[in-house]
Amino acid sequence: MPGLLLGDEAPNFEADTTHGRIRFHDFLGGSWGILFSHPRDFTPVCTTELGRAAKLAPEFSKRNVKMIALSIDDVSDHLAWAKDINAYNGDEPTEKLPFPIIADANRKLAVQLGMLDPDEQDKQGMPLTARVVFVFGPDKKLKLSILYPATTGRNFDEILRVVDSLQLTVKHQVATPVDWKPGERVMVVPSIPDAEAKKLFPEGVFTKELPSGKKYLRYTPQP
Ligand code: BEZ
Repeated sequence: MPGLLLGDEAPNFEADTTHGRIRFHDFLGGSWGILFSHPRDFTPVCTTELGRAAKLAPEFSKRNVKMIALSIDDVSDHLAWAKDINAYNGDEPTEKLPFPIIADANRKLAVQLGMLDPDEQDKQGMPLTARVVFVFGPDKKLKLSILYPATTGRNFDEILRVVDSLQLTVKHQVATPVDWKPGERVMVVPSIPDAEAKKLFPEGVFTKELPSGKKYLRYTPQP
C-alpha cells in the first residue's frame, strides 16, 4: 500500500529538482523537513501557494525546517513556472525560489508517497497530485500528514503553527489545545503524573474541575 503513515521513515528517494539532483535523506540532513505536493505547474491555486511558501521561507528556516515542493512536471517547466510565481509575489521574475521543486513527470514519487487525487485528472485522464503536506522530524520520521484535495489551497500560516506545536511537544512534553497560538497556555500530556508535572512545569499546573471528577484537563503556561 503506497503512502506514508505517522512514524514512518521518509523514503530515501533520488530525484531531479530545480536545485539539482538530490537524495532525500541527504537533503534533510539533521533538520526538520516539509514536503508539499502540487497538482501541476502553471495552475492558479498552486501559484498562490508557492508564492506564499516563498514569502514564508525565512519563518521555516528560523524553525530549522527545510522546504521542498513536488509537482508532476519536469525541471524545465518548474523553472519557467518559478518566474510566474516570483512575478505573482511582485518580485523579479527569476527562476530562483528559496526551496527546490521536485520533478515527478512520470508520477513515480507521487504514487510511492500516496499523493494522487483520483478526482482531478489531466487532459489524458491521468490523475493529478493532491495537496499533501508531510512534516518530517530530524530523525526523518513522519510527524504530520495533511491531505487536501487539488481544489482547496492550503493555509501556510496553519502549517507554521503546526510546526511550532510539534517542536514544542518534542522539547517540553506538552500538547497544544484547540486553536492554540504560540505564546498561549498549553496542556500537560496525560502520560505525565501530577507529581512529575509539578517538577517539569515550575510556572504551575492548573487543573480544570469537570463533572466527571477526573483531573485530566491540566494547563501550564507555554514553557
Ligand atoms: C490549481 O492549482 O488551481 C488547481 C489544480 C488542479 C485542480 C484544480 C485547481
